Amino acid sequence: MNRVGLYVHIPYCKRKCRYCDFFSVTNLLSTDGYVEAILREARRYQGEDFSIDTVFVGGGTPSLLGESEWRKLMDGLRMILPIESGAEISVECNPDSASEALFALWKELGVNRVSLGVQSLNDKVLATVGRLHDGKSALVAVNNACKVFDNVNVDYMVGLPYQTVGGVQDDLRRLLSLGVSHVSVYSLILEEGTPLYTSVKKGEITLPDDEVAVDLYDAAVATLEAAGFQRYEISNFCRAGKECKHNLHCWQLYPYIGLGAAAHSFYGGKRYAHPCDLDRYMLGGEPIPEDCENDRRGEAVMLGLRTAEGVYLSRYSELFGRDFTVDFAAALQNPTIQPCLVVNDKSVSIRPEYLYVSNGIINIFLDCLE
Ligand SMILES: C[S@@+](CC[C@H](N)C(=O)[O-])C[C@H]1O[C@@H](n2cnc3c(N)ncnc32)[C@H](O)[C@@H]1O
Ligand code: SF4
Repeated sequence: MNRVGLYVHIPYCKRKCRYCDFFSVTNLLSTDGYVEAILREARRYQGEDFSIDTVFVGGGTPSLLGESEWRKLMDGLRMILPIESGAEISVECNPDSASEALFALWKELGVNRVSLGVQSLNDKVLATVGRLHDGKSALVAVNNACKVFDNVNVDYMVGLPYQTVGGVQDDLRRLLSLGVSHVSVYSLILEEGTPLYTSVKKGEITLPDDEVAVDLYDAAVATLEAAGFQRYEISNFCRAGKECKHNLHCWQLYPYIGLGAAAHSFYGGKRYAHPCDLDRYMLGGEPIPEDCENDRRGEAVMLGLRTAEGVYLSRYSELFGRDFTVDFAAALQNPTIQPCLVVNDKSVSIRPEYLYVSNGIINIFLDCLE
C-alpha cells in the first residue's frame, strides 16, 4: 500500500512579521469554518488505497486554533483518513501562542513533534522584524515543549538586522541546552513587497552585508555540528535519528496531500496547488494542477540534492521512467563539479563540505533539462 504524507495549512497569524510572505491572514474570525473546510477537502480522499505515515500541520500559526478546533481537526482527520498509529505528527507553533495547556492538548491528540518559530533570542532583533515574542518567552516556550515532547524543532533565522556571530552562537547553545532535537536554520530572504523590504530599500534598516551573513550562517552550522547535530539537508540539522520524516518524504518526492488554502500536493504523479485565497478555499475551490514533467524532474533534482542522502536513482526512474545518469550525464561528467559529488549505483549526492555551493551545482544539473 502507498504511504502518503499529509500537510495541513493553517493560514492565520496574529500579525504579519515584517519579513514574511507566506500566505496567512490576520482576521481570525473564520478559523472554525476553515477547519470544517479542511475536513470537507479531506473527504475527497476518503476510501483511496493509501495510508498516511506523516502529518505536518503548518502555517501561518497553527497554535492560534482553539481547543475545540484542534479536537475537531485531529479527530476529524483520523476518522476520514487512514493515519497510521505510529505516524509522525508535527505541528508548527509560535512562542507567543504556545501554552503548557496547548502542548498537553496536542500530546493528548497524538501530536509527537513540535516546531517552534524562535528566529532569534535577541529582543532588539525580534522587535525589528516584528515578532510578537521576546527572547525570554521563546525560551519558556521551548522549555515547556521539551518537557512534553521528545521531538522539538526550532526555526532560527540568520542574516537579520543587529545579529552578531557571538549572539548567534549564544542563542543556539541556550536553545540546545533545553533539549531541542532539531534546528532549521534559514538565511533571511528579503522578499519583495514585505515591510522589511521597503524599510531596507528606504535605508531605514541595514541588513548584515553578504560577508557578515555568511559568517553568521557558518557560526550557526559550526555551533550545531559541535553539539553533535548532523546536517541532513541544507537548512536542517538534528540529533541522530531525529530527522523530520515528513520533510524527507516530500524532498524524495513521495506522494503527499496538502489540505488548505495555499497548500501544495503531489498525488497520483501530479502536482497541485491551492491558490493563496482563503475565500475561494472556504467556498470549496479545487486545487489547480501545476506543472509539466520537465519541471518535476527539475524539482526532484533540486530537492534531492539539497539533502545529505541525495537523489535516489531508483526513485527517479520509478517516478519518470527515465535513467538519471543519462538525463544528467553532462552534469555528472562536468569536471568542475565532479569533485563535489558522491556518485554510486544507488544515489547521487553533494559532499557535505560542498553544500554551501549547492545552488551553483544544482543549476548545472538543471541546465541538462534545457
Ligand atoms: C512559514 S513560517 C511558520 C512558522 C511560524 N508561523 C513562526 O513564524 O513561528 C516557517 C519558518 O519560515 C521561516 N521564514 C519565514 N519567512 C522567511 C524569510 N523571508 N526568509 C527566511 N526564512 C523565513 C521562519 O524561520 C519561520 O519560522
Ligand atoms: S513568520 Fe510565521 S508568524 Fe510571522 S507572519 Fe510568517 S507565518 Fe506568520
